[in-house]
Amino acid sequence: MCGIVAYIGSRDAAPILLEGLQRLEYRGYDSAGVAVATKGTLKVRKSKGRVGELAALVPARFAGKTGIGHTRWATHGEPSDANSHPHLDGAERIAVVHNGIIENADELRAKLEAEGVVFQSETDTEVLVHLIASLSQEGVELEDAVRAALKRIVGTYGIAVLDAQQPDKIVVARNGSPIVLGIGEKEMFAASDVSALVRYTRQVVHLDDGELATVRADGFNTFTQEDARATAKQPSTVDWEEASYDTAGHAHFLLKEIHEQPASVERTLSGRVDERFSTAHLGGLNMDAREARAFRRVKILGCGSAYYSGELGAQLIEELARIPAHAEPASEFRYRNPVIEADTLYIAVSQSGETYDTLAAVQEIKRKGGRVLGVVNTVGSAIARECDGGMYLHAGPEISVASTKAFTSTAVAFALIALHLGRVHDLSPADGTRICAGLKALPGQIREIVAQEKEIAELAAKYASHDGMMFIGRVRGFPVAREGAQKLKEVSYVHAEAYPASELKHGPLALIGPELPTVAIVPDDELLEKNLTTLGEIRARRGPVLMVGHTRPDAKLAEDAILVPRNEPELDPILLGIPLQLFAYYAAVALERDVDKPRNLAKSVTVE
Ligand code: AGP
Repeated sequence: MCGIVAYIGSRDAAPILLEGLQRLEYRGYDSAGVAVATKGTLKVRKSKGRVGELAALVPARFAGKTGIGHTRWATHGEPSDANSHPHLDGAERIAVVHNGIIENADELRAKLEAEGVVFQSETDTEVLVHLIASLSQEGVELEDAVRAALKRIVGTYGIAVLDAQQPDKIVVARNGSPIVLGIGEKEMFAASDVSALVRYTRQVVHLDDGELATVRADGFNTFTQEDARATAKQPSTVDWEEASYDTAGHAHFLLKEIHEQPASVERTLSGRVDERFSTAHLGGLNMDAREARAFRRVKILGCGSAYYSGELGAQLIEELARIPAHAEPASEFRYRNPVIEADTLYIAVSQSGETYDTLAAVQEIKRKGGRVLGVVNTVGSAIARECDGGMYLHAGPEISVASTKAFTSTAVAFALIALHLGRVHDLSPADGTRICAGLKALPGQIREIVAQEKEIAELAAKYASHDGMMFIGRVRGFPVAREGAQKLKEVSYVHAEAYPASELKHGPLALIGPELPTVAIVPDDELLEKNLTTLGEIRARRGPVLMVGHTRPDAKLAEDAILVPRNEPELDPILLGIPLQLFAYYAAVALERDVDKPRNLAKSVTVE
């Protein structure tokens, strides 16, 4: 999605803006631009294409100590130089960069055009800059003009605004699209994502929806959109290492993050496995045992891979705590006027903590009085702040568009939640001890799976030549199959469909034949025999089978197999998903895809 960077201080802004924009490239974009204020004028460069191409357009002498920059992911109007941000008013005095969508842009544009304003682009954002300009008469402070303009806007935004005549400040605002301020030594930064700031500062302040900030070199002040009331903000410290933003010798972030999983899972578990009482220690849930017992249902919400990890979570909670649990895409939930029950525990899942659909679902639950916990990777993110408590994954920054380590850590977080809820219900100490031991074994076992990289790469290259693939699994294996299919689609663009193995004979078996391989998730659990019968049905139709499980089956049932170490049956799905990440990665490599920049996808979907 779009990215914003802003700088004000004693250094030239342009190199800092370009460096920040490079850090935001992973979010996905199609064009980029920068504007700096100097001597009462604006200098602007913007273009379709990569940040590297933009950098080539910025001359060495591009002085200006205050500036804003943007990477655009097209929504209104195709990717083009004209549609790139920053957008300027007719007098080229004010520049705006914007993430989000202005819903009443057409109506406002018609009004402004009737007043004689000439538009240079097809974007919704340009409406905003002309509105601000029309309200910026002599003597009006920039923040007042911005606030007044935003009052006329319907929609979502994270914005940064620069006025050539007031170069001692930048005004930023947030409503549904993140803005974070970075506090430096006599310099300040702002961005849509902390990754653009960590090279310069670890002290950050997250704006809330409906909040603006005036940012000056020596500090900032925040206030409400509604009535300009000052708000109090506490800076927080970002603990993510700058090194996380490099591929560290790996060909792609995706591969690096797959390899990081033994360590990221260890961090998710750290200090949370309570072997003394055979449970999980989860202080962040803000819930005593009596409250935890009172919930009669659990509802998990997330989007894409976060939703699939929620399906694994629901399965774990039902098995270990015997509480009915169900996962639903947050993007659907928020639109169906959901019934919110006082005795249901809602859990929102998000790596970024900024996914708009998930945030909207959380807000809907809270508006109706429900209790929501967050399982979130990004500390201080909007979803984390909106929830009543929860767990941070501590997986470290996930740069790859395709989620891997956050998915795995989320599944581990759910295992901890399920263990905790189980032990306040009827899970025995012996079973609790068994799960604690299983959790502690995970990092080492993930290491063993990743060590099979070469063999998995060969299998991926073999199967990548097919136009499509079926992924199947039963009960615990089905969310694994869904996530495996999602990974393959996202990075290799090979069509992949996930089905419960039990459903195959109710329709999709018609597709099976030599040209459609099946990836089958077949753990050695109580459903092994059923799964092997399904493999027989596929082989009878000469469908190729790649089995992912614990024991190599009869060659007649699967011509290829990837074997993973056994853990406890409830925790096995966490491990069964790992080879599918490598499989998707190497299929994409075999097909020469741009793995870290998959087409049409953005890392954080901060719009509807
Ligand atoms: C995962 O590979 C995808 N890029 C996508 O499905 C992602 O999981 C989804 O958009 C949710 O993102 P979040 O976890 O940041 O909320």
